[in-house]
Amino acid sequence: MCGIFGIITNQNNLSLGKVVLEGIKRLEYRGYDSCGIVSLSNSKLFVKKDSGKIDEIQKKINLAEIPNNSKLALAHTRWATHGAPTKINSHPHLDCSNKIAIVHNGIIENFIELRKDLINQGHIFKSDTDTEVIPHLIEQKMKEGLNFKDSIVEALKLCNGAYGLAVCHADYPDLIIVVRKESPLVIGIEEGKTTYLASDIPAFLPLTRKCYIMEDDELAVLKAGEVDFYDLKNDKKINKELQVIEWTIDAAEKGGYEHFMLKEIYEEPTAMQRTLKISKDLLQVFANILWSAENIYITAAGTSFYASLAGKFIVSRFLGKYIQAIECSEFQTQLSNSLKNNSVIIALSQSGETIDTVEAIRWAKSKKNVKILTITNVVGSTLTRYSDNVIVTQAGPEIGVAATKTYCTQVLTLALIALEIAKLRKVELDSDIEKYEMALKSTPQIIEKFLNENIDEIKNIVNTLEKSVQFFFLARGISIATAKEGGLKLKEVACRFIEGYSAAHAKHGPISLVREGFPIIFIAPPDETYQRLIGNVMEFKARGGKIISLVVEDDKTISELSDLTIRIPQPGDKYHNIFSPITFTPALQLLAYYASLLHGLDPDKPLNLSKTVTVH
Ligand code: M6R
Repeated sequence: MCGIFGIITNQNNLSLGKVVLEGIKRLEYRGYDSCGIVSLSNSKLFVKKDSGKIDEIQKKINLAEIPNNSKLALAHTRWATHGAPTKINSHPHLDCSNKIAIVHNGIIENFIELRKDLINQGHIFKSDTDTEVIPHLIEQKMKEGLNFKDSIVEALKLCNGAYGLAVCHADYPDLIIVVRKESPLVIGIEEGKTTYLASDIPAFLPLTRKCYIMEDDELAVLKAGEVDFYDLKNDKKINKELQVIEWTIDAAEKGGYEHFMLKEIYEEPTAMQRTLKISKDLLQVFANILWSAENIYITAAGTSFYASLAGKFIVSRFLGKYIQAIECSEFQTQLSNSLKNNSVIIALSQSGETIDTVEAIRWAKSKKNVKILTITNVVGSTLTRYSDNVIVTQAGPEIGVAATKTYCTQVLTLALIALEIAKLRKVELDSDIEKYEMALKSTPQIIEKFLNENIDEIKNIVNTLEKSVQFFFLARGISIATAKEGGLKLKEVACRFIEGYSAAHAKHGPISLVREGFPIIFIAPPDETYQRLIGNVMEFKARGGKIISLVVEDDKTISELSDLTIRIPQPGDKYHNIFSPITFTPALQLLAYYASLLHGLDPDKPLNLSKTVTVH
């Protein structure tokens, strides 16, 4: 939630405004309610900010225009939590003297009390945000005689909550101070020349590949081309390892596609090829731990949760044990009296920063002796620090707010673990395991073929359904996960109302909504649920429902019952069917993408969403 970017340089030939604008735009996936930039020149701060998306604000007030001699700037793109998305509430926020400016990602939970105290001390607030207490607290500490850095440290001791923040001061033009607690922050560096700060690496990747990843309770003093790190708790200097990023910015840019969402769907085959190469040793570590565990939970949010539903189905199938999937925000409440020692918890998260997932894990660790197995797409993310073992999915950076390629790689990773378990347990014939492995290895080609051959058909279905505003996505068995994930995509990017549900259970209530022409998308791979699903299709058809089915290429029965059909190129056998969430979901992602375009929406920036949810 919220993106922050900053730069401090001694280079004269750098177009600071342009660099800052491009940097903050690369973080816009984190929030796009409002944006602002502060720069510094001749001991004065210059602030430009407004509500709206960055391009709109740039057009309106020329955000990127900053004083020529400025060598420092901070920028922020906001996902509103405290206070409406207005100009006044947008960052940066300043103190009373307009000398101290801050950009902040996170939440100061006790801001109401702090604000009251500060107002009693004579401070004047301009916004409704929690953030604004911080510059006033720093101002107060400086008035009390502390230096700039110590004032920040002391001010933050009074704040409860989470922050990734950057502060500058009009009288200190050669430094920026940044602090991290629970909200991600990375520092990029071109030694001796320029230092960058950002919520995420792609923001400065075209400028430098060298970076430091900040940990919780660390403070960094940034100067042009140099940086010093301190432990916030004892103010001691710390040494941090400089990392060199392997991937290039191309991976995080649109590369000729109109939207990141489309690009990332088309990247699925290669992302999966990379995921198929995850080390067998690592997969076996996960497999062994799961095999010897008595109680297994899997927890996540949003798309990662639906990947958990699909993945736990596959793992349980070969493990022979039940895995309980619990949404991360409910994990603590549901297990408050029943979490057992030696439980194994699988945490799934694209970003590794989703606060409810991180908190579920932290809570479990604080209560019992549990093992945490994390599957994430981001090396060094917060979740990895609380985990006993980590697998990094190989999707590459995902910028589109709607998760697409990361879903496929998450399910694939769990499927790879499942097959290692199958080998360990020896409950399947070796020849069967081999066939399952072959089926899994063919999933990238199946998706590639679908993406190459079926776009017109998807567009045609989208056009036919143009007037529909509500949909059911129905399925049985493992495909309920596909129904929920496909439904979530359409909901997010095309603003349609969706119920993703069990086809069998739908007759216990939801079916009462069906009228002539009501669209129902049935996910119908030819697995053990197919025969019963036919009955469910008939029930909805009999009530006038418009039936759209997702079936395999040679399907006969359900496609004949359907008004519209999407055919997934895969052989309908047991070896492939268990992996159908991987091969069927891209079709639904594309459906959502083209529906979004048809309704004039921006699929990369769905209303009210943020890619990384770091608030409860
Ligand atoms: O980074 P995470 O996988 O933990 O994120 C979880 C959800 O916030 C995320 O999947 C969200 O639902 C996306 N908007 C889905 O497209």
